[in-house]
Amino acid sequence: MEKIEAKMVFSRDEEFQASFQPNYDRYSELKAFDDTKAGVKGLADTGNIEVPRIFVHPPETVHKSSCSTEKVFIFPVLDLQGIDHPSKHKEIVDKVRDASETWGFFQVINHGIPLPVLEEMLQGARQFFEQDIEIKKQHYTRDTTKKVAHVSNFDLYSPFVPAASWRDSLYCLMAPNLPSPEEFPTACRDILMEFSKHMMNLGCSLLELLSEGLGLNPCHLKNMNCAEGLSIAQHYYPACPQPELTIGTRQHSDCVFITVLLQDDIGGLQVRHQKQWIDVPPTPGALVVNIGDLLQLISNDKYISVEHRVLSNKVGPRISVPRFFSTGAFPSPRIYGPIKELLSECNPPKYRATTVKDYTDYFRKKGFDGTSALLHYKILS
Ligand code: OGA
Ligand code: NI
Repeated sequence: MEKIEAKMVFSRDEEFQASFQPNYDRYSELKAFDDTKAGVKGLADTGNIEVPRIFVHPPETVHKSSCSTEKVFIFPVLDLQGIDHPSKHKEIVDKVRDASETWGFFQVINHGIPLPVLEEMLQGARQFFEQDIEIKKQHYTRDTTKKVAHVSNFDLYSPFVPAASWRDSLYCLMAPNLPSPEEFPTACRDILMEFSKHMMNLGCSLLELLSEGLGLNPCHLKNMNCAEGLSIAQHYYPACPQPELTIGTRQHSDCVFITVLLQDDIGGLQVRHQKQWIDVPPTPGALVVNIGDLLQLISNDKYISVEHRVLSNKVGPRISVPRFFSTGAFPSPRIYGPIKELLSECNPPKYRATTVKDYTDYFRKKGFDGTSALLHYKILS
């Protein structure tokens, strides 16, 4: 089924084929790569100095910057120190609102998660990806119902995605139902559980700030169960011999309420802001927060879910650990539409209501194809 679909659309995508790549049996090459279950790391370890063609993107996907007359922007940083002091609290809420409305992204410092926990989490992720391949392979799966799944390119076979990305991932669904400890890979089990607890607390504090920023009761978003579902991804971006040909993560927005991301010091994460790609500078101890599609939807476009990407790099590996606040494909009956308290005659609902599962299924089917899944839910006026 996947084979037919992929072939059908790739032959439709003639412009891409003609301008960029010769015709070849792309599906077989994707499948051969997938069957190794060794991911991009397996390829990088062979020492081959050429990126296989299934990873080669059109130049416009990979280019480093968007125009020659670039403005200099300072990526927003939010210091959570003193959050319980009323005057400081208001200042923090104002900054969260401002960043969420204009960037959809900010970094937080003094968030209360001890540095050793962050370092150990990055280390645990590295141990998972760098362990004995035979053990790592046991977790390799494309079954999206699995709570723990190691996979390279969740959208590898998507007919809408022109090329694979230079990245491997491990996804763990931590809530609403925490897997039993034995289901987690031993390489990162303990730290994953500890990191998850800390992240849950931070996520709830962020949802309070974001609620207040919308002029709502601090518990509003939490009471809507925006923190009900949590998954942690661990991404491993091996050093890439030809970073000018491929990308670490293709541009996309996140199909969640919010994402809180821990990254190491390699860099490469970029955010789309005022038609430019802006680097998110790796900052020791900081966490990157971004608004996801579902929060844009329920805030009726007050907060924005912004596209971002990760460049590949000759230096590596780069490791990142995003924490997604969403129940994902887990069935949950709750319907989410624009929050009533935010609507008025001059601000009518801009989106149809949906379940998180419905939204996630649509998003995953599409893959990182360069368009926003929100468009599918937009009410056309
Ligand atoms: C993601 C993502 C960025 C990174 O997983 O959605 O954008 O730095 N990751 O790995
Ligand atoms: Ni993302």
